[in-house]
Amino acid sequence: MKKVSIIGAGNVGANAAFYIGEKNFADVMLVDVVEGRAKGKALDLMEAAPVRYYDARIEGTDDIADIAGSEVVVITAGHVRKPQMSRLDLLETNAKVIDPIIPQIKQHAPEATIINITEPVDALTCYIWKKGKFDPKKVVGMTGVLDTTRFREFISKELQVSTANTTAVVIGGHHDFMVIIPRYASVEGIPITQLLPQEKIDNLIKRTRAAGSEILSYLKTATAHYAPAAALAEIVEAIIKDSKRMLCVSACLQGEYDVKDLCLGVPAIIGAKGVEKVVELQLTIEERQQFEESVTVIKNAVDTLEI
Ligand code: LAC
Repeated sequence: MKKVSIIGAGNVGANAAFYIGEKNFADVMLVDVVEGRAKGKALDLMEAAPVRYYDARIEGTDDIADIAGSEVVVITAGHVRKPQMSRLDLLETNAKVIDPIIPQIKQHAPEATIINITEPVDALTCYIWKKGKFDPKKVVGMTGVLDTTRFREFISKELQVSTANTTAVVIGGHHDFMVIIPRYASVEGIPITQLLPQEKIDNLIKRTRAAGSEILSYLKTATAHYAPAAALAEIVEAIIKDSKRMLCVSACLQGEYDVKDLCLGVPAIIGAKGVEKVVELQLTIEERQQFEESVTVIKNAVDTLEI
C-alpha cells in the first residue's frame, strides 16, 4: 500500500488517519513532536481496525525521518484559533512551527506532494512552497473542499435534498473573504439560483463563511476537525488513486487568474502529480472584484513573512 505521512497528531491529523484507514487506500505514518502522542493515537486507531474492517496500517512516531517513502506528506502542525481570533492571527506563530519541518520534508520525502492545512492555510502554503523551493504542483493547501462541503450541507438542509446531489465552488482565500459562487453551486446540475431566493442564498453564504467560527464558538478550546479532516482525506485520496478529481484547493498560482507567486483557492484537477491543472473560471465583474479582495488579504499576509 502507498504511504501517507501526517505531521501533527492533533484532532485533524488523527481523524484524517482514521478516515484514510477506513477507506483502505494508504498506510499512514502519524508524526508528532510530543513524545508518545502519535504512537498512542496510532495504536488506538489500529485497535479499531478489526471492527472497522481496515487493512491499512497506521503507525505513530516522534521521528520525522520516518516520513521517508511517502507519496503524500500532510502538514497539520501548529496552533489553532481561540474564540475571537482570526485565522491570520496565527500567521507568525505557525510559520515558526512549520519552519523546521520544511527542510525535513525536502530531506526525507523529496518526491512527496505536500498538503498543508495549518492555519492561515493559503499564506502558509505559500510560505512552504517558496521557502522549500518546491515544485508548485506538489504543494497544495486544504481550503475549498472544506468550504464547499459546508456549503453543500447547508444547501442540502435548506432544500431537503441529499448532500450527494449537491456541488459547489468556493475560490479565494480560506478566510472571511472567501468567494462563494452561487451560480456554480447546484443540485444535480440545477444551479441553486433557480431553486432558492437570493435572500436564502445570501444567508447560506454568510453561514459558510463563518462556519469555522461557529464551531469554535461552541467548542471554545478546539476548532472544527471532523469536516477539515474529511476534506483533507478527500485530497489525499485523489492523489494516491490518481483519480483526477476536480477539487477546490489552495494552489500555487503562477499567472492563472492573473495571480503570480501566491497560493489561493481555485478549482483544480488533482492526481498523482499533485495539482495537475488549475481550472480558470469565467468570473463576472462582481465575482472578480471579490476574488481580488481575497487575493489582497493573502498577499498582505505573505508579504509580512520572511521568506
Ligand atoms: C475551519 C478552520 C479549519 O474553517 O479554519 O474550521
